[in-house]
Amino acid sequence: MTIVREKHHLLLRLSHWLNVPLLTLMIWSGVLIYWAHQPYLTIPDDLGPFELHHRLAEGMAWHFTVMWLLVINGLIYFSYLCFSGEWRELVPHRRIFPDAFRYILFDLKISRTSPEWSGKFNPAQRLAYFSAILLSIGAVISGLAIYKPVTLSFLLTLLGGYEVARFIHFFCMMSLVLFIFLHLIQVARAGWNNFRAMVAGYEMEK
Ligand code: HEM
Repeated sequence: MTIVREKHHLLLRLSHWLNVPLLTLMIWSGVLIYWAHQPYLTIPDDLGPFELHHRLAEGMAWHFTVMWLLVINGLIYFSYLCFSGEWRELVPHRRIFPDAFRYILFDLKISRTSPEWSGKFNPAQRLAYFSAILLSIGAVISGLAIYKPVTLSFLLTLLGGYEVARFIHFFCMMSLVLFIFLHLIQVARAGWNNFRAMVAGYEMEK
């Protein structure tokens, strides 16, 4: 008999899927801002509508508008996790690093033994999703510090100055890109039932 079981709440699914266009816009507009940096202007650029040069104002307008939508979306996701108690599924336990490593070896069929785990996510997912949340918070905080370096000078000082904050911002963004890449591989490997649950909310169990 097939059992249909609720897996992801509507609010969680909405905020998850909203991340996709919002993050794409953030990364794209961030590249437009980044490309205005003097050294890159020497790189030939003839990509028609995707031309990157001289689009600083446009990049900033998109970046600083979409940022607020992403923050609001992040707050909705965060509030949902807090109120539903689902934060427990994501906060790493003490043995998360060795467990995640062992789970990856098991998943790649290099090892035959899987670490013990229970709940919604395996140890590798738990670590990856928790890291993605931390990286998103890091990207927003460092982004705010370099966006308003005078008004938020305390934040800039706390982060170690403008150059360090800029590096943190870039690091968080690149790590999020890496997360999305690995996330997509994991989603493809997990299969249709798992993907459908993030769309429809339910998973089937035989
Ligand atoms: C087209 C792109 C994406 C696809 C197809 C996708 C798919 C999925 C699926 C199927 C799950 C459920 C995993 C499971 O239950 O085992 C999931 C969870 C998750 N995804 Fe994505 N995702 C995408 C983009 C993103 C992006 C851009 C982010 C944010 C940076 C993200 C962050 C997360 C997080 C944090 C979870 C765990 C959600 C929870 O609290 O339950 N995903 N994703």
